[in-house]
Amino acid sequence: MIAANLPRIPTFEDWRAAARNMLAVLAKPEEIVWRTEGESDLFINAPTPNLKPITPAFVPRAFIETAGKAVLHNDPRRFALLYRVLWRLQQNRALLEDAADKDIVQLYALVKAVRRDEHKMHAFVRFKEVVGADGPRYIAWFEPQHHIVEETADFFVRRFTGMRWSIITPDASAHWDGKTLSFGPGGTRADVPAEDARDDDWRAYYESMFNPARLKVAAMKREMPKHYWRNMPETALIPDLIKSASTRTEDMVAATPSTPRKRAGVAHAKITPEDLSTRLEPIAGHAEAPASLEDLRRALQSCRACPLWRDATQAVPGEGVEHEPLLALVGEQPGDQEDLAGHPFVGPAGQVLNRALEAAGIDRGEIFVTNAVKHFKHEPRGKRRLHKRPVTGEVEICRWWVANELKLVRPRLVVALGATALQSLSTHRGTLEAARAQTIKTREGAPLRATVHPSYLLRLPDEDAKVEQFHRFVADLKEAKSAAERMLRAA
Ligand code: URA
Repeated sequence: MIAANLPRIPTFEDWRAAARNMLAVLAKPEEIVWRTEGESDLFINAPTPNLKPITPAFVPRAFIETAGKAVLHNDPRRFALLYRVLWRLQQNRALLEDAADKDIVQLYALVKAVRRDEHKMHAFVRFKEVVGADGPRYIAWFEPQHHIVEETADFFVRRFTGMRWSIITPDASAHWDGKTLSFGPGGTRADVPAEDARDDDWRAYYESMFNPARLKVAAMKREMPKHYWRNMPETALIPDLIKSASTRTEDMVAATPSTPRKRAGVAHAKITPEDLSTRLEPIAGHAEAPASLEDLRRALQSCRACPLWRDATQAVPGEGVEHEPLLALVGEQPGDQEDLAGHPFVGPAGQVLNRALEAAGIDRGEIFVTNAVKHFKHEPRGKRRLHKRPVTGEVEICRWWVANELKLVRPRLVVALGATALQSLSTHRGTLEAARAQTIKTREGAPLRATVHPSYLLRLPDEDAKVEQFHRFVADLKEAKSAAERMLRAA
């Protein structure tokens, strides 16, 4: 037997160096004992040679990428598995493509588990604020299942660039001071404050997002595995929310008209843009434009200028960077989840939008996102509330709000997502396609580009079309960003 010695938590480079030594002495997989520091073993103090294989090993890029992830798994058998695959690759260069091979199945299972853990860490880290003499710091305690702290750190740097933060886990910690990322040893839960004011926000957010009519406990546990619950303030609510779900659903159904509320067709027909100031005046005391976004948001909640407020939970204002962002995106109207949460684009269309923004290299945290219409228009269908497109009168009335939001926020460039936003923002009366791929103007004269609404992509029946249209959507967003950057440089 021959010992391959590794540090306690080896990086891919540690494993690669050891594997190279093993290949150099033509050690067969079954002859090697893989040991990590701290494990008691006769061989552990044996000097690690630094040998070169006689003939260069065949190490395809796909193996390096896959092994780089798999080595982060906590299964102690991973080192042997990786070496076995590397060894077998020397005889069978197509091994990685053999989806039925037992080693390959295992290898991809490790990679999948690590990716899933990374994804959960992105979503489930909860920071607590600690205020010191040098200002606030944010500290989070997190218990990943695998060794992913270094791998995920860049994500948190991008997401929370402006904050000073630390993420402490049992095996390692990551620290960002606003400029430099560093890593240190692990810690304990006691290193992080137990509670802070943000916890209430998380709980309030979770409660408002929780839709009892859509509750599927098994699916929820798959999405938010119980392992992560103990470090997430909002999860304390889950048992009670589940318990009360059926009663809450019954209440919701009882509160929902069994037939669609009769459309106030006559009232709608009467609404003209000229009516606007008279219609808006009594609702908010804002015949004049609001002086700040805060002012606008407060006033918006009391908007009764059209009947849509009656069936909506709340008005959903825009949010994001409030002072001269590069882009402001304008959607159609809040959907079911936005109506409950009070935030734009947090439901399924929001997820498509987030993915497209990421693919276009646009950070959602650096833009402003809003809607042409501020209340959710819908009709009941069984227990569900189905989206209904707003009519011209409603869009025209709500234009007052979105135009004032944009006036206060002053984005470099506005992007209309879909035909309703385009109709609200511009005087363009051709098709959306005709307005796409060019910079036009809003009614107020600001630069405007148009693209599809993300839910259009969700509705496409054909997978190929979905992919193709997603790419076009991303290209439109990228082009909008470049156009805005050009304007910024020229200013
Ligand atoms: N669709 C929109 O247009 N806006 C939202 O906020 C959500 C879905």
